[in-house]
Amino acid sequence: MFPFLTLVIALASLVGLSSQRPGVFDEIAMLEAENSTLLQYPTDFTRNIVPKNIHSHNDYWRDVPLLTALSLGVASVEADVWAFDGTLFIGHELAALTPARTFESLYVDPLLSIIAGQNPKSQFTVNQTGINGVFDMSSATTDGPTTLPFVLEALQPLRERGYLTTCEANGTCTLGPLTVVGTGNTPLDGILAALTEGRVLRCSVDWQVLCFDEDQFVILLPALNSTFDITVSPIASTDYEVAVGWSGIGTINQTALAAVQQFVGDAHALGIRARFWDTPGYPIHARDNIWKTLIDNGADWLNADDLEAAANMF
Ligand SMILES: *[C@@H]1O[C@H](CO)[C@@H](O)[C@H](O)[C@H]1NC(C)=O
Ligand SMILES: *[C@@H]1O[C@H](CO)[C@@H](O)[C@H](O)[C@H]1NC(C)=O
Ligand SMILES: *[C@@H]1O[C@H](CO)[C@@H](O)[C@H](O)[C@H]1NC(C)=O
Ligand SMILES: *[C@@H]1O[C@H](CO)[C@@H](O)[C@H](O)[C@H]1NC(C)=O
Ligand SMILES: *[C@@H]1O[C@H](CO)[C@@H](O)[C@H](O)[C@H]1NC(C)=O
Repeated sequence: MFPFLTLVIALASLVGLSSQRPGVFDEIAMLEAENSTLLQYPTDFTRNIVPKNIHSHNDYWRDVPLLTALSLGVASVEADVWAFDGTLFIGHELAALTPARTFESLYVDPLLSIIAGQNPKSQFTVNQTGINGVFDMSSATTDGPTTLPFVLEALQPLRERGYLTTCEANGTCTLGPLTVVGTGNTPLDGILAALTEGRVLRCSVDWQVLCFDEDQFVILLPALNSTFDITVSPIASTDYEVAVGWSGIGTINQTALAAVQQFVGDAHALGIRARFWDTPGYPIHARDNIWKTLIDNGADWLNADDLEAAANMF
């Protein structure tokens, strides 16, 4: 039983009231067949591709220059250019040049189009100052206190039908099919206020307060305030790079292993589940070594971009 299934929110609203209810694979096929706008993520050109420090030597020799490299997350490409009459032609030697294969056609034009695609002009980006790169890996933040009320409001239809896990002000919780967990910039104060007003129910903060500080895990908030228990925070999460830091290559040392075990142990002692985020995604074998180490040492959740790879760990 997995109570913290946030994605169900999206699926639930897509399921119609037909008498013969489609299965999950039918739903996927239907959405794909109708090219639903819900599936169109504007900056998804390099979705799921982890950029890697790999240089594509003589990149123009590949079947499809530039794109093959990008598809593999290669973050550096080499283009040898020859100038004739002001035009740059691409190739390793003169015999390899063709009129069509220019620096412009093979590299500049595709890059213009790719980067423009990663920076769509919309009502949402009017204030954006930086320019997104080829790889869609960066993330912006939203203002928690401003955003939370809208999140709570949007959850109302689910709450009304009794689908959400609910808690009384006295801490007694009833598990529903859907437990909402706020993470990232979710404001703890806002959650606590909503909790006491009975508006949110177990719409909880992902407990980022177990911190690693000078070789010790210190429990910053919960120890100071008995309000912060599993009712408020069913999951503890911490930044793997900060708390553990092992690259996944070679053997984990005792200090790093103890860090994993202490975080998991501290969370479990409070009845809270443990998740590490910011785990390295590359190299693949290192990512897998880390995942395995976390699972073997009691971590309850894997953070994953490659869902298939993560699914295969269980
Ligand atoms: C899907 O829709 C988008 C935008 O509406 C369009 O650009 C694209 O060509 C469509 N794809 C297919 C396969 O119809
Ligand atoms: C952009 O900035 C204006 C002025 O500060 C603000 O009113 C508006 O909400 C902002 N829009 C977005 C999408 O951030
Ligand atoms: C908490 O409140 C609910 C509803 O008022 C009640 O049924 C339950 O017994 C209370 N639990 C405790 C531990 O006081
Ligand atoms: C616990 O934290 C809440 C929210 O910040 C605060 O209102 C309350 O006074 C704190 N309780 C104690 C015992 O410190
Ligand atoms: C143990 O591993 C961590 C993460 O790689 C590293 O930061 C730390 O220096 C290592 N400690 C020892 C004693 O080797």
